[in-house]
Amino acid sequence: MLRAKFDKQIKECMSENLELVNNDKWRNKYHIMPPVGWINDPNGLCEFNGGYHCFYQYSPLNPLGGEKFWGHAVSKDLANWEQRDIALYPDIKEDINGVYSGSALVKDDTVYFFYTGNVKYPGDHDYILTGREQNVILVTSKDCVNFSEKKVLLRNSDFPNNMSLHVRDPKVWEEDGIYYMVLGARTKDDKGCILLYKSNDLYNWEFHSIPARNINNMGYMWECPDIFKLDDKYILMFSPQGMEADGYKYNNVYQSGYAIGNFINDNTQLKLGEFIEIDRGFDFYAPQTFEDSKGRRIVIGWMGVPDAVEHKNPTIDKFWQHQLTIPRELILKNDKIYQIPVAELEVLRKGVAYKNEISLNDKSILDIFESNTFELKIDFINSKEFQISLREDCTLSYKNKVFKLELGKSGYGRDMRAVEIDAVNSIRIFSDNSSLEIFLNDGEEVFSTRIYNDYIDRTLTLIGEGIVKIEKWNL
Ligand code: FRU
Repeated sequence: MLRAKFDKQIKECMSENLELVNNDKWRNKYHIMPPVGWINDPNGLCEFNGGYHCFYQYSPLNPLGGEKFWGHAVSKDLANWEQRDIALYPDIKEDINGVYSGSALVKDDTVYFFYTGNVKYPGDHDYILTGREQNVILVTSKDCVNFSEKKVLLRNSDFPNNMSLHVRDPKVWEEDGIYYMVLGARTKDDKGCILLYKSNDLYNWEFHSIPARNINNMGYMWECPDIFKLDDKYILMFSPQGMEADGYKYNNVYQSGYAIGNFINDNTQLKLGEFIEIDRGFDFYAPQTFEDSKGRRIVIGWMGVPDAVEHKNPTIDKFWQHQLTIPRELILKNDKIYQIPVAELEVLRKGVAYKNEISLNDKSILDIFESNTFELKIDFINSKEFQISLREDCTLSYKNKVFKLELGKSGYGRDMRAVEIDAVNSIRIFSDNSSLEIFLNDGEEVFSTRIYNDYIDRTLTLIGEGIVKIEKWNL
């Protein structure tokens, strides 16, 4: 019933807005976007039956967000994505105000999806301590087209007593025949933490421990936790809300990052190392990882941040907002996560469009871009200092061991983000019509941002010292 009502509304909304959306010059070419309306977190990432699946938080009826569904995009190669029908609707009383974020676990011929059913009671509530339900719900599928009945696995009453009503975003994995679920949470006294549950059968879950919590400037709520291994080390990746800015660090309203951890005390506690932001740009949040059949750990993030009110997206006027990042492979080097665009993205390259080697000492203005959709690689030889400009008013600079990304009016409120880094030997940029993903030193640091320049700026301007090798492909 409810589903039929939604289908009708969405169909009407599509017929009214699809043309506006598809004709927008800021629609991107190779990123997952909402067909219409709003997108946020990637959900249920998995490889299944020979294809990659990316579900996502989706509000088709409103580009400013609203009731959340799970949208669904599929890909054979992680580079070209196709949209599928909406996968999950908020259509039972335990998820009536949103099919919130969650994950997928593939076992034999079935995908098990775990997500948070969000419920908000009408009335005068703060929705933190009263007025809200967050239910862990399971649905299964054998084809990612048809889904089972929803089964509620955990309710707020199953969470420890000192938890507020914000407990969500289950991420499930298997280890040595046992299933684990991590949930992001906020305690009643406003401390972010994670909860760990265990199961033998994916249906019955038992509380295990609170392996990590806010100790010092780590925020009041931890969203979208993910625990996985890289080189036999546990990594906790999560999105804390409420961290104070510290120099160039934590400048967005909410953060996303990771810490390397060791399970101690009978595997109940995670002894965490330093929290490191996974992306230094303006638009990155709620990343989720999965392991593919090649054994790669791949991350996709939301290229947006909740409540980032000062960073505008003019696409709202065209009835859509936000997108996801390109898939990036995670690699651990010297206890630091490097993010490398998955190799498959090379299929997007349309030949070598430009290749050159120049000395930086004189200002160089190269006329090399025919569109905003390109991949650009710059290798630096002996450059302790440089400044690069592209796309009208976007500047990338390196000086005194600080790398900066600066945007002018094309940033629509996005001004400057920076990172301290010992050397910059290479920059690789994935540019799409309204986004940039900038990888320093083969993924040691990454900056993701939306960018809305008015015209196609054909020029790349470089100034500094040393020699640079430049390669550019049209995408
Ligand atoms: C993160 C988040 C999640 C929640 C979802 C709702 O962006 O707030 O914690 O499940 O978005 O859309």
